[in-house]
Amino acid sequence: MKVAVVGKGGSGKTTTSAVLARTFARSGRSTLALDCDSNPNLGISLGLGEAETERLVTVREAVDAGETEHAVSVDDLVDRFGVDAPDGVRLAVVSAIQNPEPGCP
Ligand SMILES: Nc1ncnc2c1ncn2[C@@H]1O[C@H](COP(=O)(O)OP(=O)(O)OP(=O)(O)O)[C@@H](O)[C@H]1O
Ligand SMILES: [Mg+2]
Repeated sequence: MKVAVVGKGGSGKTTTSAVLARTFARSGRSTLALDCDSNPNLGISLGLGEAETERLVTVREAVDAGETEHAVSVDDLVDRFGVDAPDGVRLAVVSAIQNPEPGCP
């Protein structure tokens, strides 16, 4: 199942996303949370802490700046760019790829 949470600024997207992710993970589902926000702070709501949440932002910035290779597959993305958050949620901070090449996950 894939769930996307969208809405107006300040409408509760991050809070809702975190509650959904933690609830799914606690119920035993394998749960991957992807923070695509331009100001990503889902890590805070997931209980990851400020320092690790900030670090994930710099990881995305490095990929966007071309300093880090893009993931070659979804599994690679989850492995290399994801971190384990409380309750068993795996979190990655990602962004849209403006000019995807063939095979890009
Ligand atoms: N169901 C709710 N009831 C009351 N307050 C809530 C609820 N959900 C979120 N809030 C509060 O509303 C504020 C905005 O929530 P949140 O950060 O989740 O929104 P957002 O849509 O992600 O915002 P942004 O657009 O800035 O990313 C926070 O202070 C949060 O604690
Ligand atoms: Mg938010």
